[in-house]
Amino acid sequence: MATRSPRPHPVTVCWSAKGGSGCTVVAASLALTRARPVVLVDLAGEVPAVLGLAEPGGPGLAGWLAADAPPDRLHDLSVPVVDDVRLLPRGGPLAPTTPTRWGTLLDTLARDAAVVVDAGAGEPDAGLLEHTDRSLLVTRACYLALRRLVALTARPDGVVLVEEPGRALRRDDVERTVGAPVVATVAVDPVVARAVDAGLLTGRLPRLVERELGRAA
Ligand SMILES: Nc1ncnc2c1ncn2[C@@H]1O[C@H](COP(=O)(O)OP(=O)(O)OP(=O)(O)O)[C@@H](O)[C@H]1O
Ligand SMILES: [Mg+2]
Repeated sequence: MATRSPRPHPVTVCWSAKGGSGCTVVAASLALTRARPVVLVDLAGEVPAVLGLAEPGGPGLAGWLAADAPPDRLHDLSVPVVDDVRLLPRGGPLAPTTPTRWGTLLDTLARDAAVVVDAGAGEPDAGLLEHTDRSLLVTRACYLALRRLVALTARPDGVVLVEEPGRALRRDDVERTVGAPVVATVAVDPVVARAVDAGLLTGRLPRLVERELGRAA
């Protein structure tokens, strides 16, 4: 991460090495549990579905990036989720973006609110990470996921471990492989899956997720 002057609010990026790890649920839950105001930036495109929101129309972040639009347009592109939590929707596939543009985006958003980014699965953009205060890998204690992580260049500052019963790998195996501490654990819980399937995560964030991620926030 680059050294720069402190921002009024921090920028946290959630990403995963393997699809289906629970990254969007963790990013959305983090946005709902941390001190407000918060803006949740959706780079992967599934936050509205996970939160049970109507798919936002309009240009979204993709439009802002493609049009080289000014920073003051960003607020108009975001939509409310709940009190003092807003979503900046993706709006379409994202074109490659320069580190400077990521910096403008994140510095602008972090002036008014804590920023949580769902960066999705795979190698996170290096320019994005350069302008991030905290980079969190969301992973299960899964050999295949850790194998993918090892093949990537990026390394996180911390791990959110999505815990399922019956895994052979343990928390310290994950920490050793990733080279970063587990900062929160989230149990795989049918209550979470049902809340997502019913579009009710916003209103009924399961208490366990709230407690665990509240600590990480
Ligand atoms: N803690 C949890 N307990 C139970 N189910 C969960 C939990 N977290 C996520 N899920 C379920 O797992 C599935 C994948 O979750 P999610 O969409 O957050 O993963 P993802 O890593 O963002 O996936 P993708 O790589 O496709 O973006 C969803 O059906 C979701 O409801
Ligand atoms: Mg996702």
